[in-house]
Amino acid sequence: MSERPSALDKRTKRTSAPAAEMRDIEKGFNGTPVLKGVDFTLARGEVHALAGGNGAGKSTLMKILQGVHRKDAGVIRIGGREVDFSSTADAEAAGVGMVFQEFSLVPTLSVARNIFLNHEPRRFRMIDDKAMIRRAGEILQGMGVDLDPRAEVRTLPTGYWQLTEIAKALALDAKVLIMDEPTASLTKTESEALFELIGRLKAQGVGIVYVSHRMEEVYRICDRITVLRDGGVVLSDAVADLSPEQIVAAIVGREVDALAWVERPAATKDTTPLLEVRNLTAANGVTDMSFTLHAGEILGLAGLMGSGRTELAKLIFGIDRPMSGEILLRGEPAGITNPRIAIAKGIALVPEDRRLQGLVLDHSVRENLLLPLLPGLNRGPLVDDRRGDGLAARLIERLQIKLVSANRPVRLLSGGNQQKVVLAKWLGRDPDLLILDEPTAGVDIGTKSEIIERIRELADSGKAVIVISSELAELLAVSDRVLVLRNGTVTDDLDRRDIDDEESLQLAIQGVRS
Ligand SMILES: Nc1ncnc2c1ncn2[C@@H]1O[C@H](COP(=O)(O)OP(=O)(O)OP(=O)(O)O)[C@@H](O)[C@H]1O
Ligand SMILES: [Mg+2]
Repeated sequence: MSERPSALDKRTKRTSAPAAEMRDIEKGFNGTPVLKGVDFTLARGEVHALAGGNGAGKSTLMKILQGVHRKDAGVIRIGGREVDFSSTADAEAAGVGMVFQEFSLVPTLSVARNIFLNHEPRRFRMIDDKAMIRRAGEILQGMGVDLDPRAEVRTLPTGYWQLTEIAKALALDAKVLIMDEPTASLTKTESEALFELIGRLKAQGVGIVYVSHRMEEVYRICDRITVLRDGGVVLSDAVADLSPEQIVAAIVGREVDALAWVERPAATKDTTPLLEVRNLTAANGVTDMSFTLHAGEILGLAGLMGSGRTELAKLIFGIDRPMSGEILLRGEPAGITNPRIAIAKGIALVPEDRRLQGLVLDHSVRENLLLPLLPGLNRGPLVDDRRGDGLAARLIERLQIKLVSANRPVRLLSGGNQQKVVLAKWLGRDPDLLILDEPTAGVDIGTKSEIIERIRELADSGKAVIVISSELAELLAVSDRVLVLRNGTVTDDLDRRDIDDEESLQLAIQGVRS
């Protein structure tokens, strides 16, 4: 008699236990504490936002839960059972899957092979291709994703890489799924597909940790939020009970003003424009685009993904070549046939996928920051060390790059701080025309206004800036003029003063006329 209730107790206890529980987690790297007694509880079927400034410890906490790093102290329980992972394989076996901030796929292998990497279904010790492709297909179908499991990963748009990562976690029957800034590299449509998928997984009882810097996403898909600051929990509550201001204040540690537009004196337009684009058409989708840009002006490019924003930037910078039309620089045909010429003519482009293109990960932060500045710092064969140090220190301070020492490799920095290094290096270079593609993606809320301020300073000193951003609030805060692009062409050329609010810009982008 006495056995039955206790067995039942055990069972109910186990099923009601949280998907994952972390208690008093401590972690340091080479003596520097990064996590200082962190508690984190993930319920089943909940989407739990993990927020905090760049370098707060979000990725580190999740890498511990995933077995990438070992905790120094604390307790972890998965589904009520205490665990101590010493590898990602341990974590996977316990049902913890992770979609990394940096992709972990093998680009030259098929989607199916990636999904089952190291767990390939086998027959007679050989990989059973047929079974693998069938099962991969089933998983993708269950996710509502239309993707050929035989496709080679490197031929797919990044959105599908993400989905393949998720499929990989699901193939291991994950009960806990960690997503570290999953939408950072996704288009709007791809993000929508991801949100739908998250809803499905949630309904299946999967607990999801969602690391993000985007407040709209937190409100849209998350049930609870935990905010880390300097390695400690400063807030943990139901999202519905919190205002955005409360969340932002917890992340930054002080009140932050909403991004405000600062009207700047109009650039003198009676001079030759710095840049003039005339009837530009190219194979990349840009169609009959025309506009001008004067020195001292900040031009925002608004438009949906695929509207031609990034494609226009690539033409100006010489990555792609126009089929017809003209680009004039200071009144002369620009003659930019490759990026090296563009740079020589005073143009800089900070690309969207800057972590891949913009950094030498094994070099120090200092070297990365000073790389584009070296010609200016050369004194004989040696770089002027003192001036270099001063410059690097200034850039680090301005963008609040969190680091132990500027002489340590960039790869030791948190993801967002790596982004800041790339931005800082170009902002410090003072090109005549600076093109920034999604300058604040991955950067924390506390630093956004700093970046906008630095862009204004550049324009004030007579430089021209083109800003591409999907965040309309940011675009409206920084731009003097906004070009609206649709289907590869300019549909509106608006003075910032004539744009009432985000909503009216949104309507213009979608081509809805009021
Ligand atoms: N392998 C490592 N070696 C040394 N320091 C590290 C290592 N990994 C992370 N750190 C440090 O730990 C701190 C927290 O980094 P983490 O990546 O967890 O931040 P994060 O909250 O994910 O930030 P972001 O929003 O920028 O991604 C940072 O100061 C970082 O430099
Ligand atoms: Mg991170």
